[in-house]
Amino acid sequence: MLADCVHSQIDDHAPFGGVVPEIAARAHVERLDHVVAEALEQAGLSVTMIDAVAVTSGPGLIGGVLAGVACAKAIATAAERPMLGVNHLEGHALTPRLTDGLAYPYLLLLASGGHCQLLMVEALGRYKRLGGSIDDSPGEAFDKLAKHLGLGFPGGPEVESRAAEGDPERFKMPRPLLDRAGCDMSFSGLKTAARLAADGLVAQQGGLYEQDINDLCAGFQAAACDALSQKTRRAIAAFQQTHPAGRSLAVAGGVAANRVLRAKLSSAAEEAGLQFAAPPLALCTDNAAMIAWAGAERLARGETHDRDAIIARPRWPLDETAEPLIGSGKRGAKA
Ligand code: KG4
Ligand code: ZN
Repeated sequence: MLADCVHSQIDDHAPFGGVVPEIAARAHVERLDHVVAEALEQAGLSVTMIDAVAVTSGPGLIGGVLAGVACAKAIATAAERPMLGVNHLEGHALTPRLTDGLAYPYLLLLASGGHCQLLMVEALGRYKRLGGSIDDSPGEAFDKLAKHLGLGFPGGPEVESRAAEGDPERFKMPRPLLDRAGCDMSFSGLKTAARLAADGLVAQQGGLYEQDINDLCAGFQAAACDALSQKTRRAIAAFQQTHPAGRSLAVAGGVAANRVLRAKLSSAAEEAGLQFAAPPLALCTDNAAMIAWAGAERLARGETHDRDAIIARPRWPLDETAEPLIGSGKRGAKA
């Protein structure tokens, strides 16, 4: 990896406690060319020295995706280089190959602000979904709880650091869908349970003490990580049955930065005799290196995409054969 530049929009969205689509789109338009120039400079390359341009062409908030695709097409056209349109989720899914050189097949827990899926990564472009969240993503639940408790944005790291000072046993939080067979998950009920516990305290004592916030975060985090790791254990069993030669469990996406989750997944992998791969935190959250890697894997097998065929897709499931989990409706599955 010659360069990896990220322009964070966290400060732009923080006042709103969540991502505002219009602000995200504008920030892409305003910052993209600067970030590309910075990456080229860091790598010591001119635009004519690159082999190909890979760009996220979905799924995601359409404004940002459109800005990225337009920028990439301009670069590829000017530099006369081939292009590849990459699925954002494929970038996350293949990150453990970039960081740990994992061989196919492996089992992946992808948990981010927008997604939550357990996938068998069988080969480049071949992903089988074993389960996922039927409502909120875990990252969304972390973010919404943080917002409700008056903590900063994004909520994951804030909740994690508060939880480290809290008692996970004080508030009993539900472990949704653990009683149901299979690998599907749900975080919406857990999010509501944590919010109601907070509201109950406010009604009772007129506000929240620091310790209350810490304990609420600890209870929530324990339940969320339990649900994720229990469902991952089930997915491991299914994975080992389908792929007895499979050797690894990997985790990716922003929520994979959570240390409690990593520890639980690491034990689950160890007990099943699997290697556990958790990319460094900076490559778990959104970054361009993962898209470049996915593009490079495809380029290496001789694949490039017709420029006109690369379009911004708000919805683009990795496993196109799986039943939609959420938000499908008329326009098809989101992811
Ligand atoms: O993958 P990502 O950077 O963006 C996408 O959603 O694609 O994931 C961001 C999400 C946010 O919801 C954030 O709160 C969550 O990852 N996150 C965490 C932690 N760090 C980031 N969740 C739990 N614990 C963390 N330490
Ligand atoms: Zn992401």
